[in-house]
Amino acid sequence: MTTHSQSGTRRVLFVCLGNICRSPTGEGLLRALLAERGLEGRIEVDSAGTGAWHVGEGPDRRMAAAAAARGYRLGGRARQVAPQDYDRYDLIVAMDRENLADLEAMAPPPERRRAELRLFSEFLPPGAPRDVPDPYYGGGHGFERVLDLVEEGCAAILDHLLDGEGQG
Ligand code: 4NP
Repeated sequence: MTTHSQSGTRRVLFVCLGNICRSPTGEGLLRALLAERGLEGRIEVDSAGTGAWHVGEGPDRRMAAAAAARGYRLGGRARQVAPQDYDRYDLIVAMDRENLADLEAMAPPPERRRAELRLFSEFLPPGAPRDVPDPYYGGGHGFERVLDLVEEGCAAILDHLLDGEGQG
């Protein structure tokens, strides 16, 4: 059975590979935006990974330090995407095309899904890269790049969630 959100509550899940760099950044920056706009009660945010290597770990220290330098706090413990996520969330945002392909491959049949699956870069201006690049094996520059892109896309994600309010 499809479970529907309480009226007015919209749910979004950010997904990357490890759930320790990019998707916790999406979660943390969207939470900051919600707090700034007084919308915490209206939108529920979480993040998950397609892989299980880091389950139970907090955000990558390098990612958390780069975020903290811009005034954002990253939190939560890594978890893997679960079948019920596809029905719990209204919107699942994949950070790169591989994450999206993995999410599509793991997706339950349509009658057990409510979530719309989207690529993060669909919320970026034209000309932006298609993927939020995986920063894990690179240098410090990669973490700044993640923050730049996620800062740029979060407002459009929030607008999209608020546009869909009252539907479903
Ligand atoms: P994330 O980064 O997908 O942005 O959390 C990664 C974290 C860990 C690994 C790869 C990417 N890893 O291979 O362990």
